[in-house]
Amino acid sequence: MSNLQLDANGRLRHFLAIEGLNREILTEILDTAESFAGVTEQNVKKVPLLRGKTIVNLFFEASTRTRTTFELAAKRLSADVLNINVSVSSTVKGETLLDTLRNLEAMHSDMFVVRHSDSGAAHFMARHVRPHVSVINAGDGRHSHPTQAMLDMFTIRRHKNDFENLTVAIVGDILHSRVARSQIQALNMLGTGEVRVVAPRTLLPTAVEALGVVPFNRLEDGIRGADVVITLRLQKERMRGALLPSELEYFQLYGLTEKRLQAAKDDAIFMHPGPINRGVEMDSQVADGPRSVILQQVTHGIAVRMAVMSLAMRHAGEGETD
Ligand code: NCD
Repeated sequence: MSNLQLDANGRLRHFLAIEGLNREILTEILDTAESFAGVTEQNVKKVPLLRGKTIVNLFFEASTRTRTTFELAAKRLSADVLNINVSVSSTVKGETLLDTLRNLEAMHSDMFVVRHSDSGAAHFMARHVRPHVSVINAGDGRHSHPTQAMLDMFTIRRHKNDFENLTVAIVGDILHSRVARSQIQALNMLGTGEVRVVAPRTLLPTAVEALGVVPFNRLEDGIRGADVVITLRLQKERMRGALLPSELEYFQLYGLTEKRLQAAKDDAIFMHPGPINRGVEMDSQVADGPRSVILQQVTHGIAVRMAVMSLAMRHAGEGETD
């Protein structure tokens, strides 16, 4: 799997998961995104890097932030963008993922950005595309959401500079979260001092320590002294059976309030990948408060996705084209 993401020179070709990459590649993505962040703040927001390329946004699952920021990122790189709305596409008529892929390739697509409810869908596509085509994973099942993790790393780096001395606490539904998995891998790869996960036992994977995290069951213990507090949505669509008593009880035990956040460092930032549920993961005072960087995360998503797309497209200019 690791080789699938890299070309013969060890450079990014597909972006499917954090796993299998290395610190140099993650840092290159963050540095490239930093240069694009300037572009998105200019009056003329476009650069010609991907002019003439066709990028297909293939979303089999609902998305607001991720799909639109991928679209904006592609447009700011001057690519042509196709948005495939799967609820009205031929997939609902029984066409397989591979047939959909072949047809879109026949239109000379250069890159697929794919979100799918099956873990492994983006890897499957990457194994089947033509040599010049890149696949970017925009979230696959419970497995991975690497561009979300990278925009979170970008946001953390902008506020905290280096990762070595940081304590980062990830609170909430770790068990069902592809975002948590990718964040944990990225934080560890970038050398974060301590990565904590904070959740009721029922929402933590078994042997979670093996992921390189310190688990906590009590919120106050888990966020004590943290530099960064990230909360995650309860992924109710992925829960089978009653893992939680009720949302109200969850909020009482794990919901972030200003009072509870006092356990974290004074200059701690508060993050959430969205969509947020006010009154469940946090109250509005925290969501809209001075420590919250939730909307910055959304803005950073554009620069980070521009970086990933332009880095993955480098190989196409050098290698085979059709
Ligand atoms: C996340 C996702 O879809 O995995 N959202 C996102 O991409 N911003 C998290 C979630 O759905 O809770």
